[in-house]
Amino acid sequence: MNRILVTGGLGFIGSHTVVELQQAGYEVVIIDNLYNSKIEVLESITSITGIKPTYFNIDLRNKRAVEEFFSNNSVDGIIHFAASKAVGESVKNPLLYYENNVSTLVYVLQEMKKHQLTNFIFSSSCTVYGQADELPITENAPVKPAESPYGNTKQIGEEIIKESCKVDSLKAIALRYFNPIGAHETAIIGELPLGVPQNLIPFVTQTAAGIREELSVFGDDYPTKDGTAVRDYIHVVDLAKAHIAALERLINNKNKKDFEVFNVGTGIGSSVLEVIKAFEKVSEKSLNYKIVDKREGDVTAAYADTTFANNELGWKTEKTLEDALLDAWKWQLKQ
Ligand code: UD1
Repeated sequence: MNRILVTGGLGFIGSHTVVELQQAGYEVVIIDNLYNSKIEVLESITSITGIKPTYFNIDLRNKRAVEEFFSNNSVDGIIHFAASKAVGESVKNPLLYYENNVSTLVYVLQEMKKHQLTNFIFSSSCTVYGQADELPITENAPVKPAESPYGNTKQIGEEIIKESCKVDSLKAIALRYFNPIGAHETAIIGELPLGVPQNLIPFVTQTAAGIREELSVFGDDYPTKDGTAVRDYIHVVDLAKAHIAALERLINNKNKKDFEVFNVGTGIGSSVLEVIKAFEKVSEKSLNYKIVDKREGDVTAAYADTTFANNELGWKTEKTLEDALLDAWKWQLKQ
């Protein structure tokens, strides 16, 4: 049985990936410092799969602790989620983002080199494309100057891994996520936003649940079908499964280059108003919303060309926007 280290394995995408890994027969070891996650998630994962993952409360900024972990544990692959992800916070505290997202990546890669570990999956983001010139976005679209320290950490992260792959025995895949949403269909794990949610779907579900008074729709004069911004919303379980496909590509030596990049989205662009309508339909609730000014830094439209991931990873999404919104709503109702 392959033993996989999942850093940030108690977070939103991490926890769903741990479940899929266990259900695919992998043994999972989690490292998480509970910075943006809760220890209860460990029990939730166990209640879904019947298997308790091994867990270490390690802060990856602690280089000594990272060294000690790798001296005492052998793993066959690493999926590296642990990172900070709030755009606004990164603008206010860039050094925190460079330390959390870049220093920790370097420490993990140094240990992989020392222990001759080869298989590495990195959480990247469609934010690297900025406003792409062509839609849908292929992996060949140019990386645009980052709009925030958060976005920059994803670009720098990819560069660090790419350079390491050239000289070390490392093999790596960066997955550029579009907009992950939803929750596990059991409603046992889901997204746990800290404070007021910045992302659309948690704000939608909290508004429908009466926790927030009103949803603000950021702008209605974008050059899109209905004037609101367009994104590619992917169910978190579909996204989790892409990690298994990527990992298996590396483990089975099916990769064509030592460093590869894949878009992970549905290929479908949905506007904010379409999301609201779809949510109202599945939840049978009407949503209180108003149109306000655009949010600074938002792009007009981003959705993936998924051809490369579909063909090379043998992976495709199985769930619809409605499935994801219904799962997000069931999860909200359980909170
Ligand atoms: C954001 C980040 C992106 C990051 C991702 C991580 C920005 C500019 N981008 O993506 O880099 O990888 O989160 O989760 O912050 N919207 C509303 N009202 C709201 C919230 C959002 O209308 O209350 C709109 C936004 O304008 C956008 C869409 O909904 O058009 C999706 O927003 P969001 O969920 O925040 O994701 P992104 O901005 O695409």
